[in-house]
Amino acid sequence: MDWRTKLLNPKQKARQDYKSLVTPVYRGSTVVFDEQSLIKDDWKQSENGYSYGLYGTPTALELGARICDIEGAKHTFIVPGGQSAIALVYFAFCKSGSHALVPHSAYGPNKAMAEGLLRDLGIEVESYDPLIGKDIKKLIRKNTSLIWCESPGSVTMEIQDVPAIVKAAHEKGVPVALDNTYAAGVLFDAFKYGVDVSIQALTKYIGGHSDILLGSVSVRDDSVYNVIGSIYMQLGLAVSPDDCSLALRGLQTLAIRLEQLEKATFQIALKLSEIDIIENVYHPALTSCPGHEIWKRDFTGSASVFSFTFAKKISGDQVEKFINSLNIFKIGLSWGGVTSLAVVYPDLVRPNKDFEGRLVRLNIGLEATNDLINDLEIAISKIN
Ligand SMILES: Cc1ncc(COP(=O)(O)O)c(C=O)c1O
Repeated sequence: MDWRTKLLNPKQKARQDYKSLVTPVYRGSTVVFDEQSLIKDDWKQSENGYSYGLYGTPTALELGARICDIEGAKHTFIVPGGQSAIALVYFAFCKSGSHALVPHSAYGPNKAMAEGLLRDLGIEVESYDPLIGKDIKKLIRKNTSLIWCESPGSVTMEIQDVPAIVKAAHEKGVPVALDNTYAAGVLFDAFKYGVDVSIQALTKYIGGHSDILLGSVSVRDDSVYNVIGSIYMQLGLAVSPDDCSLALRGLQTLAIRLEQLEKATFQIALKLSEIDIIENVYHPALTSCPGHEIWKRDFTGSASVFSFTFAKKISGDQVEKFINSLNIFKIGLSWGGVTSLAVVYPDLVRPNKDFEGRLVRLNIGLEATNDLINDLEIAISKIN
Protein backbone atom coordinates (compact mmCIF):
# COMPACT_ATOMS: atom_id res chain seq x y z
CA MET A 1 0.00 0.00 0.00
CA ASP A 2 1.11 3.50 -0.74
CA TRP A 3 1.71 5.51 2.44
CA ARG A 4 -1.17 7.77 1.45
CA THR A 5 -3.55 4.85 1.49
CA LYS A 6 -2.01 3.57 4.71
CA LEU A 7 -2.97 6.86 6.36
CA LEU A 8 -6.59 5.80 6.02
CA ASN A 9 -6.12 2.02 6.29
CA PRO A 10 -3.75 1.44 9.19
CA LYS A 11 -2.49 -2.12 9.70
CA GLN A 12 -1.38 -1.57 13.29
CA LYS A 13 -4.07 -0.73 15.82
CA ALA A 14 -4.05 -0.20 19.57
CA ARG A 15 -5.71 -2.86 21.70
CA GLN A 16 -9.38 -2.17 22.05
CA ASP A 17 -9.88 -3.73 25.49
CA TYR A 18 -9.14 -0.66 27.62
CA LYS A 19 -11.62 -0.83 30.49
CA SER A 20 -11.92 2.79 31.58
CA LEU A 21 -14.32 3.97 34.26
CA VAL A 22 -15.23 6.75 31.85
CA THR A 23 -17.41 6.53 28.75
CA PRO A 24 -15.19 7.32 25.72
CA VAL A 25 -15.91 10.38 23.58
CA TYR A 26 -17.01 8.84 20.29
CA ARG A 27 -16.60 11.43 17.55
CA GLY A 28 -18.06 10.48 14.23
CA SER A 29 -20.79 11.20 11.78
CA THR A 30 -20.37 8.05 9.72
CA VAL A 31 -20.96 4.46 10.74
CA VAL A 32 -19.42 1.65 8.68
CA PHE A 33 -20.96 -1.77 8.20
CA ASP A 34 -19.28 -5.14 7.61
CA GLU A 35 -21.55 -5.98 4.68
CA GLN A 36 -24.01 -4.17 2.43
CA SER A 37 -26.83 -6.37 3.71
CA LEU A 38 -26.17 -5.13 7.26
CA ILE A 39 -26.83 -1.46 6.41
CA LYS A 40 -29.65 0.09 8.41
CA ASP A 41 -30.97 3.60 8.13
CA ASP A 42 -32.93 3.87 11.33
CA TRP A 43 -33.08 6.44 14.18
CA LYS A 44 -33.94 3.62 16.63
CA GLN A 45 -30.27 2.93 17.24
CA SER A 46 -30.70 1.66 20.81
CA GLU A 47 -32.72 -1.30 19.53
CA ASN A 48 -31.59 -1.73 15.95
CA GLY A 49 -27.90 -0.84 15.96
CA TYR A 50 -25.90 2.21 14.94
CA SER A 51 -26.67 3.85 11.62
CA TYR A 52 -25.60 7.52 11.67
CA GLY A 53 -24.07 9.96 14.16
CA LEU A 54 -27.01 12.34 13.84
CA TYR A 55 -29.14 9.95 15.92
CA GLY A 56 -26.48 9.80 18.64
CA THR A 57 -22.98 8.42 19.02
CA PRO A 58 -22.41 5.83 21.79
CA THR A 59 -21.47 8.76 24.12
CA ALA A 60 -24.85 10.43 23.55
CA LEU A 61 -26.74 7.15 23.80
CA GLU A 62 -24.94 6.32 27.04
CA LEU A 63 -25.98 9.70 28.47
CA GLY A 64 -29.56 9.08 27.31
CA ALA A 65 -29.55 5.63 28.92
CA ARG A 66 -28.33 7.05 32.25
CA ILE A 67 -30.94 9.84 32.33
CA CYS A 68 -33.59 7.32 31.31
CA ASP A 69 -32.61 5.02 34.16
CA ILE A 70 -32.54 7.80 36.77
CA GLU A 71 -35.90 9.22 35.67
CA GLY A 72 -37.53 5.81 35.28
CA ALA A 73 -38.44 6.53 31.66
CA LYS A 74 -38.91 4.22 28.68
CA HIS A 75 -36.34 6.10 26.61
CA THR A 76 -34.47 9.42 26.69
CA PHE A 77 -33.51 11.50 23.65
CA ILE A 78 -30.50 13.81 24.04
CA VAL A 79 -30.90 17.12 22.20
CA PRO A 80 -28.81 20.30 21.86
CA GLY A 81 -30.42 22.24 24.73
CA GLY A 82 -33.45 22.65 26.96
CA GLN A 83 -35.10 24.94 24.43
CA SER A 84 -34.71 22.39 21.61
CA ALA A 85 -36.21 19.78 23.96
CA ILE A 86 -39.25 22.08 24.32
CA ALA A 87 -39.43 22.58 20.55
CA LEU A 88 -39.23 18.82 19.92
CA VAL A 89 -42.19 18.18 22.23
CA TYR A 90 -44.33 20.90 20.62
CA PHE A 91 -43.60 19.64 17.11
CA ALA A 92 -44.26 16.03 18.11
CA PHE A 93 -47.73 16.72 19.54
CA CYS A 94 -49.02 19.81 17.73
CA LYS A 95 -49.93 20.42 14.13
CA SER A 96 -51.80 23.17 12.33
CA GLY A 97 -55.16 23.57 14.08
CA SER A 98 -53.94 22.16 17.42
CA HIS A 99 -54.50 23.85 20.75
CA ALA A 100 -51.93 23.56 23.55
CA LEU A 101 -51.82 24.85 27.12
CA VAL A 102 -48.78 26.37 28.79
CA PRO A 103 -48.54 27.93 32.28
CA HIS A 104 -48.00 31.72 32.65
CA SER A 105 -44.89 30.85 34.63
CA ALA A 106 -43.24 28.75 31.88
CA TYR A 107 -39.67 29.45 30.78
CA GLY A 108 -39.77 32.69 28.71
CA PRO A 109 -38.52 31.26 25.39
CA ASN A 110 -41.13 28.46 25.65
CA LYS A 111 -43.84 31.15 25.67
CA ALA A 112 -41.98 33.08 22.96
CA MET A 113 -42.09 29.99 20.72
CA ALA A 114 -45.80 29.65 21.48
CA GLU A 115 -46.46 33.25 20.52
CA GLY A 116 -44.08 33.27 17.54
CA LEU A 117 -43.20 30.23 15.48
CA LEU A 118 -46.12 28.09 16.64
CA ARG A 119 -48.76 30.78 16.12
CA ASP A 120 -47.38 31.35 12.61
CA LEU A 121 -47.80 27.62 11.94
CA GLY A 122 -51.47 27.75 12.98
CA ILE A 123 -50.97 26.25 16.43
CA GLU A 124 -52.80 28.04 19.23
CA VAL A 125 -51.01 27.99 22.58
CA GLU A 126 -53.10 29.35 25.44
CA SER A 127 -51.46 30.27 28.69
CA TYR A 128 -53.02 29.26 32.00
CA ASP A 129 -52.71 29.99 35.71
CA PRO A 130 -50.02 27.58 37.00
CA LEU A 131 -52.02 27.06 40.22
CA ILE A 132 -55.14 25.94 38.31
CA GLY A 133 -54.85 22.26 39.35
CA LYS A 134 -57.82 20.07 38.41
CA ASP A 135 -59.69 23.05 36.93
CA ILE A 136 -57.47 22.72 33.88
CA LYS A 137 -60.27 20.48 32.58
CA LYS A 138 -62.32 23.62 31.84
CA LEU A 139 -59.64 24.76 29.39
CA ILE A 140 -59.31 21.48 27.51
CA ARG A 141 -60.89 21.62 24.06
CA LYS A 142 -61.56 19.00 21.41
CA ASN A 143 -58.36 20.03 19.60
CA THR A 144 -56.15 20.27 22.70
CA SER A 145 -53.15 18.12 21.87
CA LEU A 146 -50.64 18.99 24.60
CA ILE A 147 -50.50 20.41 28.13
CA TRP A 148 -47.22 21.77 29.45
CA CYS A 149 -46.35 21.94 33.13
CA GLU A 150 -43.26 23.52 34.66
CA SER A 151 -42.94 23.20 38.41
CA PRO A 152 -41.72 25.33 40.05
CA GLY A 153 -42.40 27.96 37.40
CA SER A 154 -39.58 30.06 35.98
CA VAL A 155 -38.73 33.07 38.15
CA THR A 156 -42.05 33.23 40.08
CA MET A 157 -41.63 29.65 41.38
CA GLU A 158 -45.28 28.46 41.50
CA ILE A 159 -45.49 24.76 42.39
CA GLN A 160 -48.05 23.05 40.18
CA ASP A 161 -50.44 20.26 41.14
CA VAL A 162 -49.07 18.04 38.38
CA PRO A 163 -50.98 14.87 39.45
CA ALA A 164 -54.31 16.78 39.30
CA ILE A 165 -53.45 18.24 35.88
CA VAL A 166 -52.39 14.81 34.60
CA LYS A 167 -55.65 13.25 35.82
CA ALA A 168 -57.80 15.88 34.11
CA ALA A 169 -55.71 15.70 30.93
CA HIS A 170 -55.73 11.92 30.68
CA GLU A 171 -59.50 11.78 31.20
CA LYS A 172 -59.68 13.69 27.91
CA GLY A 173 -56.83 11.78 26.26
CA VAL A 174 -54.43 14.74 26.27
CA PRO A 175 -50.70 14.12 26.89
CA VAL A 176 -48.83 16.11 29.56
CA ALA A 177 -45.24 17.29 29.20
CA LEU A 178 -43.25 18.59 32.15
CA ASP A 179 -40.19 20.82 32.20
CA ASN A 180 -38.50 19.01 35.10
CA THR A 181 -35.24 20.97 34.99
CA TYR A 182 -35.56 22.42 38.52
CA ALA A 183 -35.87 18.91 39.96
CA ALA A 184 -32.90 17.67 37.88
CA GLY A 185 -35.20 14.79 36.94
CA VAL A 186 -34.81 13.38 40.47
CA LEU A 187 -36.47 15.64 43.09
CA PHE A 188 -39.86 15.19 41.41
CA ASP A 189 -40.70 11.73 40.05
CA ALA A 190 -42.40 12.77 36.82
CA PHE A 191 -43.41 9.30 35.66
CA LYS A 192 -44.73 8.22 39.06
CA TYR A 193 -47.03 11.24 38.90
CA GLY A 194 -48.21 10.26 35.43
CA VAL A 195 -46.60 12.69 32.99
CA ASP A 196 -46.01 11.47 29.46
CA VAL A 197 -42.85 13.43 28.68
CA SER A 198 -40.28 14.89 31.06
CA ILE A 199 -37.75 17.32 29.63
CA GLN A 200 -34.66 18.80 31.21
CA ALA A 201 -32.18 21.49 30.31
CA LEU A 202 -29.15 19.31 31.11
CA THR A 203 -27.34 22.64 30.81
CA LYS A 204 -28.32 23.25 34.45
CA TYR A 205 -27.87 20.58 37.14
CA ILE A 206 -26.69 17.61 35.09
CA GLY A 207 -23.88 19.55 33.44
CA GLY A 208 -23.57 21.43 36.70
CA HIS A 209 -20.58 23.62 35.78
CA SER A 210 -21.96 26.18 33.26
CA ASP A 211 -19.79 24.78 30.47
CA ILE A 212 -22.28 22.92 28.23
CA LEU A 213 -25.68 23.31 26.60
CA LEU A 214 -27.71 20.10 26.30
CA GLY A 215 -31.27 18.89 26.79
CA SER A 216 -33.11 15.64 27.35
CA VAL A 217 -36.56 14.39 26.42
CA SER A 218 -37.65 11.34 28.42
CA VAL A 219 -40.77 9.44 27.44
CA ARG A 220 -43.21 7.27 29.34
CA ASP A 221 -43.95 4.50 26.83
CA ASP A 222 -43.54 3.10 23.32
CA SER A 223 -46.27 5.16 21.75
CA VAL A 224 -44.76 8.48 22.95
CA TYR A 225 -41.32 7.13 21.99
CA ASN A 226 -42.48 6.61 18.41
CA VAL A 227 -44.28 9.97 18.12
CA ILE A 228 -41.27 11.91 19.44
CA GLY A 229 -38.64 9.76 17.72
CA SER A 230 -40.05 10.39 14.28
CA ILE A 231 -39.88 14.19 14.77
CA TYR A 232 -36.48 13.93 16.48
CA MET A 233 -35.19 12.23 13.33
CA GLN A 234 -36.74 14.87 11.03
CA LEU A 235 -35.40 17.86 12.98
CA GLY A 236 -31.79 16.58 13.00
CA LEU A 237 -31.04 17.45 16.62
CA ALA A 238 -27.36 16.44 16.64
CA VAL A 239 -25.37 16.82 19.86
CA SER A 240 -21.64 17.09 20.54
CA PRO A 241 -20.09 13.95 22.08
CA ASP A 242 -17.75 16.21 24.06
CA ASP A 243 -20.72 17.92 25.70
CA CYS A 244 -22.30 14.53 26.42
CA SER A 245 -19.06 13.43 28.04
CA LEU A 246 -19.15 16.49 30.33
CA ALA A 247 -22.79 15.74 31.20
CA LEU A 248 -21.81 12.14 32.05
CA ARG A 249 -19.13 13.51 34.34
CA GLY A 250 -21.65 15.91 35.88
CA LEU A 251 -23.96 13.01 36.73
CA GLN A 252 -21.29 11.47 38.96
CA THR A 253 -21.42 14.42 41.38
CA LEU A 254 -25.11 15.34 40.99
CA ALA A 255 -26.17 13.85 44.33
CA ILE A 256 -23.54 15.61 46.41
CA ARG A 257 -24.00 18.92 44.57
CA LEU A 258 -27.77 18.86 45.01
CA GLU A 259 -27.43 18.02 48.69
CA GLN A 260 -25.11 20.95 49.38
CA LEU A 261 -27.06 23.35 47.13
CA GLU A 262 -30.33 22.52 48.88
CA LYS A 263 -28.81 23.16 52.31
CA ALA A 264 -27.10 26.43 51.40
CA THR A 265 -30.02 27.77 49.36
CA PHE A 266 -32.59 27.14 52.08
CA GLN A 267 -30.35 28.79 54.67
CA ILE A 268 -29.97 31.89 52.47
CA ALA A 269 -33.70 32.00 51.63
CA LEU A 270 -34.56 31.86 55.34
CA LYS A 271 -32.09 34.63 56.12
CA LEU A 272 -33.57 36.86 53.41
CA SER A 273 -37.09 36.22 54.68
CA GLU A 274 -36.06 37.84 58.01
CA ILE A 275 -34.95 41.13 56.41
CA ASP A 276 -37.56 43.89 56.80
CA ILE A 277 -37.17 45.46 53.33
CA ILE A 278 -37.76 42.07 51.68
CA GLU A 279 -41.45 41.59 50.96
CA ASN A 280 -41.60 37.95 49.91
CA VAL A 281 -39.28 35.00 49.33
CA TYR A 282 -40.32 32.54 46.64
CA HIS A 283 -38.54 29.37 47.73
CA PRO A 284 -40.52 26.08 47.47
CA ALA A 285 -39.66 25.03 51.04
CA LEU A 286 -41.08 28.26 52.52
CA THR A 287 -44.80 28.76 53.10
CA SER A 288 -44.50 32.10 51.26
CA CYS A 289 -44.03 30.19 47.98
CA PRO A 290 -47.26 29.65 46.02
CA GLY A 291 -47.96 25.92 46.00
CA HIS A 292 -45.64 25.18 48.96
CA GLU A 293 -48.04 22.48 50.27
CA ILE A 294 -47.85 20.68 46.93
CA TRP A 295 -44.06 20.85 47.00
CA LYS A 296 -44.15 19.20 50.44
CA ARG A 297 -46.47 16.50 49.14
CA ASP A 298 -44.75 15.70 45.83
CA PHE A 299 -41.06 16.69 45.92
CA THR A 300 -38.19 15.03 47.76
CA GLY A 301 -36.09 18.18 47.97
CA SER A 302 -35.44 21.68 46.75
CA ALA A 303 -32.70 23.04 44.52
CA SER A 304 -30.49 26.13 44.14
CA VAL A 305 -32.68 28.71 42.44
CA PHE A 306 -35.28 30.99 44.05
CA SER A 307 -36.55 34.56 43.89
CA PHE A 308 -37.49 37.33 46.27
CA THR A 309 -39.13 40.73 46.05
CA PHE A 310 -38.09 43.91 47.76
CA ALA A 311 -40.74 45.91 49.64
CA LYS A 312 -42.78 48.42 47.64
CA LYS A 313 -40.88 51.37 49.11
CA ILE A 314 -37.68 50.17 47.36
CA SER A 315 -37.36 51.67 43.88
CA GLY A 316 -36.19 49.92 40.71
CA ASP A 317 -32.99 51.97 40.83
CA GLN A 318 -32.31 50.77 44.36
CA VAL A 319 -32.83 47.15 43.31
CA GLU A 320 -30.35 47.68 40.50
CA LYS A 321 -27.91 49.21 42.96
CA PHE A 322 -28.29 46.09 45.12
CA ILE A 323 -27.42 43.83 42.17
CA ASN A 324 -24.47 45.98 41.14
CA SER A 325 -23.15 46.04 44.71
CA LEU A 326 -22.83 42.25 44.91
CA ASN A 327 -19.29 41.02 44.82
CA ILE A 328 -19.28 37.21 45.15
CA PHE A 329 -22.60 36.78 43.32
CA LYS A 330 -22.09 37.33 39.60
CA ILE A 331 -24.80 38.93 37.46
CA GLY A 332 -26.20 36.31 35.11
CA LEU A 333 -29.34 34.64 33.78
CA SER A 334 -28.65 30.93 34.05
CA TRP A 335 -28.58 28.59 37.05
CA GLY A 336 -27.59 25.12 38.22
CA GLY A 337 -23.83 25.69 38.10
CA VAL A 338 -21.32 26.05 40.91
CA THR A 339 -21.21 29.88 40.88
CA SER A 340 -23.77 32.05 42.65
CA LEU A 341 -25.70 34.35 40.33
CA ALA A 342 -28.16 37.19 40.76
CA VAL A 343 -30.40 38.92 38.28
CA VAL A 344 -33.24 41.43 38.48
CA TYR A 345 -36.23 41.12 36.14
CA PRO A 346 -37.19 44.78 35.56
CA ASP A 347 -40.08 44.05 33.19
CA LEU A 348 -41.52 40.89 34.75
CA VAL A 349 -45.31 40.84 34.86
CA ARG A 350 -47.77 38.03 35.40
CA PRO A 351 -51.52 38.34 34.85
CA ASN A 352 -52.81 40.68 37.57
CA LYS A 353 -49.33 41.13 39.02
CA ASP A 354 -46.66 43.67 38.14
CA PHE A 355 -43.46 43.15 40.10
CA GLU A 356 -42.35 46.71 39.21
CA GLY A 357 -38.70 45.73 38.92
CA ARG A 358 -38.53 44.55 42.53
CA LEU A 359 -38.09 40.84 41.83
CA VAL A 360 -34.61 39.32 42.04
CA ARG A 361 -33.68 35.75 41.21
CA LEU A 362 -30.71 34.05 42.83
CA ASN A 363 -28.85 30.90 41.95
CA ILE A 364 -26.80 29.63 44.85
CA GLY A 365 -23.48 27.98 44.07
CA LEU A 366 -20.85 26.13 46.04
CA GLU A 367 -19.12 29.11 47.70
CA ALA A 368 -19.13 29.15 51.53
CA THR A 369 -22.69 30.00 52.62
CA ASN A 370 -21.58 32.61 55.16
CA ASP A 371 -19.67 34.51 52.48
CA LEU A 372 -22.78 34.55 50.31
CA ILE A 373 -24.95 35.81 53.18
CA ASN A 374 -22.41 38.54 53.93
CA ASP A 375 -22.33 39.53 50.27
CA LEU A 376 -26.14 39.87 50.19
CA GLU A 377 -26.26 41.78 53.49
CA ILE A 378 -23.57 44.24 52.40
CA ALA A 379 -25.32 44.87 49.06
CA ILE A 380 -28.67 45.37 50.85
CA SER A 381 -27.07 47.84 53.26
CA LYS A 382 -25.80 49.85 50.29
CA ILE A 383 -29.21 50.51 48.74
CA ASN A 384 -30.44 52.70 51.58
C1 LIG B 1 -36.79 25.92 33.10
C2 LIG B 1 -35.92 25.99 31.88
N1 LIG B 1 -36.22 25.19 30.85
C3 LIG B 1 -35.48 25.22 29.72
C4 LIG B 1 -34.40 26.06 29.59
C5 LIG B 1 -33.63 26.10 28.30
O1 LIG B 1 -32.45 25.42 28.41
P1 LIG B 1 -31.22 25.68 27.42
O2 LIG B 1 -30.60 26.97 27.85
O3 LIG B 1 -30.36 24.49 27.61
O4 LIG B 1 -31.80 25.76 26.04
C6 LIG B 1 -34.04 26.90 30.65
C7 LIG B 1 -32.87 27.79 30.54
O5 LIG B 1 -32.70 28.74 31.29
C8 LIG B 1 -34.84 26.87 31.82
O6 LIG B 1 -34.57 27.70 32.85
